[in-house]
Order: sequence, then C-alpha cells, then structure tokens
Amino acid sequence: MTHFDLPPLLRAAGTVRLPGSKSISNRMLLLAALAEGVTEIRDLLDSDDTRVMLSALAALGIGLEAQGANCWKVRGAGGVFPVKQGELFMGNAGTAIRPLTAALALSGGHYRLSGVARMHERPIGDLVDGLRQIGCDVRYTGNAGFPPLEIFPAQVNLSAPIRVRGDVSSQFLTALLMALPLTGEKAIIELTTELISKPYIEITLNLMARFGVRVEREGWQRFAIPGGQRYKSPGVLHVEGDASAASYFLAAGAIGGGPVRVEGVGKNSIQGDVKFADALETMGARIVWGDNFIEASAPAGRLKAFDLDLNHIPDAAMTLAVAALFADGKCVLRNIGSWRVKETDRIAAMATELRKLGATVEEGSDWLAVLPTPTLQANAEIDTYDDHRMAMCFSLAAFGGVPVRINDPGCVAKTFPHYFDVFAQIAAPVIAIDGPSASGKGTVAQRVAKALGFHFLDSGALYRLTALAAMKAGVSLDDENRVAAIAAKLPAAFQGDRIFLSEEDVTEAIRSEEVGKGASKIAAFPAVRAALLDRQRAFRRFPGLVADGRDMGSVVFPDAPVKVFLTASAPARAERRYKQLIGKGMPDNMRPLLQDIVKDLEERDARDAARPVAPLKRLPDADLVDTTNLNIDEAVAAVMDSVRHRLPFLNPPVI
Ligand code: DC
Repeated sequence: MTHFDLPPLLRAAGTVRLPGSKSISNRMLLLAALAEGVTEIRDLLDSDDTRVMLSALAALGIGLEAQGANCWKVRGAGGVFPVKQGELFMGNAGTAIRPLTAALALSGGHYRLSGVARMHERPIGDLVDGLRQIGCDVRYTGNAGFPPLEIFPAQVNLSAPIRVRGDVSSQFLTALLMALPLTGEKAIIELTTELISKPYIEITLNLMARFGVRVEREGWQRFAIPGGQRYKSPGVLHVEGDASAASYFLAAGAIGGGPVRVEGVGKNSIQGDVKFADALETMGARIVWGDNFIEASAPAGRLKAFDLDLNHIPDAAMTLAVAALFADGKCVLRNIGSWRVKETDRIAAMATELRKLGATVEEGSDWLAVLPTPTLQANAEIDTYDDHRMAMCFSLAAFGGVPVRINDPGCVAKTFPHYFDVFAQIAAPVIAIDGPSASGKGTVAQRVAKALGFHFLDSGALYRLTALAAMKAGVSLDDENRVAAIAAKLPAAFQGDRIFLSEEDVTEAIRSEEVGKGASKIAAFPAVRAALLDRQRAFRRFPGLVADGRDMGSVVFPDAPVKVFLTASAPARAERRYKQLIGKGMPDNMRPLLQDIVKDLEERDARDAARPVAPLKRLPDADLVDTTNLNIDEAVAAVMDSVRHRLPFLNPPVI
C-alpha cells in the first residue's frame, strides 16, 4: 500500500474543470447501448467505474468506438443485448452492476455477474426480489441477497405492479426504470418504503426522457412506464461535470479562503449533489452560481456548525463531515443510513478517521455528529477503505495547517484518477519569485526549491524554448500567431537540470544572447503568453512549487501565498552578467563592456516593465529582496525568511 503526504495547507483559490459525472456517464452508456441508433457521448468520465461499464457493454455485443479517452460512439442494440451468454466482472461499480442486472434479466440470455469482495457484501436483494416478481430468473451463487449473480432466460409478466423497497439504495429503482422499457409493455413500480436519494431518480428520469422514454410519476411512491416505448438515440450528448467531485473543491474554497470555481456544473445541473453548495452556504460560505460554474469562498469568520438532513446528497455529505472539522461547533449529519452499504461502511470509516484528527465523533445507525477540535492532530494517517470518497474528502483536513497522510491514494481512480493533481492546482503552496534578468532569482529559486523539497519552474526557459523552436522552424519572431502555435505544442521536457526540445538537449543553447533577445521579443505577445499559461500551471504539484519569472505572482499564480520581488541595482546585475560571460570563456579584459551591459539591462527592464501584457512590476503583496549587496547564500536566506513568515506551518529549514 502506498501513501500520499499532503503538506499543511493554508489557502485555496483558482478554477477547476471537473471530470464527467459518474452517475450520468454510466446511465448514458447503458441507455445508448439499448437505444436505436448511434449515440456520441462527449465528456464521458474516464475512470474505473466507467471502464467496467464499457467492457461489459463490449462483451454484450454493443459496438463502441473511442474518439479519445472522453468521447465514445455507441452503436445501440435497439433493444435487448444481442449476446446471449456472458461472464461479466463488475469491480466495485454499483452504477454498473445494478442497472445491468435488470437489463440482462430481460435480455433472454444466460449471464454471470461478479465483482470485488466488497461488491459481494453490497446488497442487491431488493432489486432481485423486484425482478423475480415479474418472472425474471435471477439466482444468487454466493450469499442470498448479494452478488455474485446468475441470470437465466425467463418469461416476463407485467400484469401486476412491481413492489420494491426504496430505503436501501435508489439504484434499485433506477435499474428497474431503465430496464423495463425493453419489454415494450406497460409497467408499474410501487415503492413499499420511503425512497432515499431522490435526486438520483430525477437524473434517471431526465436521461430516459432524452432517449425518448416517458415515465409517469405519482409523488415518489408510484412510477408508470407507458407501453410501446423504445429508446431512441438523441445523437450527441454531453456529460455534465461530476457534482459530487465538485464538493471537494467547493469545500476547499469555503475553508481555504477561495474563491474556488468549479466548471462543468451550474444552476441548471440535473445532479442532486449541486445542493451541496446550499449546505456550504448554511455553514456561512459565500456561493456564486453561474450557468456552467459554481464558486465558493470562505466567510469572514469561522464556518458555522450545522444540523442537517442530508438524505438528498449522500455522497457529497461525506465532504461536509470533513468540513465539520472547521466549524465553530458540533455538526450533525442526519438521515445518511445509505452510507452503511456503500464502497465501505462510510459512517464507521468516517468516525474512525475523523477521530484520528482529534475530533470527537458520535455515530448512530443513520447519523454522525462531529465536534471539531481547535487544533487538528498533525501527521494523522488516514485509511481510505478502498473508497475514493474517503481519500478525496480527507485531503481537506490539511487546511487545518497540519501534514496529513492519505493511505492507498490510488483508490481515487474509481471516479477521479487525477484528483490529487487537480487538487494541487488550487491548494499546493506556490512561492512566486519575480524580478528582472540577472537578479540571481534563477539560482535563488532553485536553491529554495531544493531546501523545501518543492518542484521548480523556470518560466523564462519556456519563453526561451519557444524562441529557439521558432528559430529552428524558420518562423519569424514577429509572427505572433505562428509563434503562439509553436508555444502551444512545445515538445519540451525538463529532466533534472537538463532541458530538452524534442530529443535534443538544449540546456546551454537556450542561454545564448540571441535566444535571450528572441525570448524577450516573443514574451511580449499576448497569444504566446496565453499558450504557455496552462503549461506553467501544470508545474503546481504537491508538496509545492517555487516558480521564477516575471509574472508568476501577478498572472500565473495570483493566489501564491508567498510572493517575492527579487532585484538588484542595474550595475550590480551587469557585474554578475559580466562574470557569467567570463565564466563562459570571455577574456577578462573587456571591462569597458560593462557600460553596454548596464545599458542593455536597463533597456530590457524598461521593455519588460512597459509592455501592456504581464509587465514586470513589484506587487503590493510581494516581499522585496534586494540582492545588490547580498551573496547567493544571503539571498536564499532572505527568501526563506519570507517563506517562514508567510507559511509558518511549513517549518522550513534554517539555511
Ligand atoms: O528569466 P529569463 O531571462 O530566462 O527570461 C527570458 C525572457 O522571457 C525574458 O526576456 C523575459 C521573458 N519572461 C517573461 O516574460 N515572463 C516570465 N514569466 C519569464 C520570462
């Protein structure tokens, strides 16, 4: 088992593009498979659970064509599955095994379905009971009430309503609703107990409607599917961003200052979990809703305690349990009994892990109460129980200013394979060091990164690489669009302290005067700067980043908790450059050159400071380090002082 160490976190801000919703992805895949015609599904989630569904559909004879990792063309069967025999492995994907069981029970074939050990502990009895009422032949091959299952062809009779429980998992109802139109006959489902997680049924009905099948709903007790309906492909569909995944980032904004914006869901979302934002608002967070985004920021003071019925948002509610660590009193999460039968017993798991952080936790059969502690326990080792949501929501604990270890972080692949990289984009600490050329910031930044064990970005190298690549390609450095196109696809790689362009080592080549001049020129083009923006931001990973350049604090990482403006007088910088040139083999009898170098530096400073986009300037929130009279060690120590002052939790080593 591996682990992931999160450093103490202070602030969160920025924008996150969400991966596709798991619930919508797997429903769309199944409906497209059963529909007449070809459906193109865009922005599909690429994760363990969707791969389980895709490989099952392929095994069942559905034509699938990948148009990239997130876009699939599905050639529907126009009814039941054409393959009449199969062994299907369902992993731990509840959103795959439940609806597939129902659809296969009506497909007139012989199938076996199994999963990982935990899947064999997750109940499916209520769904099987419902299917048996209409004559389906579904048998347990392990423990009664649980997968694995064996399905045989059977004669179906829909004359009487199907009666199912609604209080264990809403996925049983979803499974029946999606499968029954395959019969072409009128079908009625009646719930014998109160339905939980109602918003998930709304997603199901909404998607069925998009595939042309109408369901008549009477309250939440009775659902009628009129006969004679068939699924028809709507053509092209887009998967919304995952609203449950949005909860981690929105909570990060509410706890860590913000604003944090999630893109891909908004006020018109069909996912119930967007209501998580309302729960955060109850805690005092400031929420802004857009058509395709939600944004959260922290309140002026501490987040407020809450006592809420969270039946409608069972998944996102886990995030609230961890956000409770930052509230001003005891928080109570009610009506969350379904947690007991999810990827793990989430009530027990949550209580155990929150206690490791020092919280006082009480639990009941379907509730949890969290009394936060003023100071979180440092270095807690959080177990994740093969439950992606445990790993993701406990990453928020690091905002308590303590290091947190997440065990088995790979479990996030179930729904969000790159979660920690995306989380780093809004939360990993950045030390932004900006300043004029030859101020020594490159060397200083590298030394600071090494001392802290942080990643390092030499942003100037990207501009130099772009200039060099353009020169090699014979592209004029005046041609903004063509240079920007080169920047967007720059085949650059940083390996240790070597820099490569395609396969060629260009570490020295990019430091030439000619390339430096070219870099300065193309750096003034807005299109070039825009093309390099995401590439620079991708360097932001845990445990943190030291970034050096001209606009690190102003444009690329405006939320950096540490900003340093590192400079020196022009004569001092000229002297350093002169020594550099001697180091490169220039004879030491060219002192008169110094005047030219000073002039050259002053001109370049003026150009960098005067350009309309991302000009070099000292920001009001940047600490000034003037290295005119400092050697490298002293300059590094001055930056580390700044880090110690701004990021006290980091405990940076004294140099
Ligand atoms: O830091 P350097 O000398 O390697 O930078 C090369 C050129 O790129 C320099 O003229 C300024 C420009 N640059 C920039 O505009 N923005 C950055 N973040 C980094 C460098």
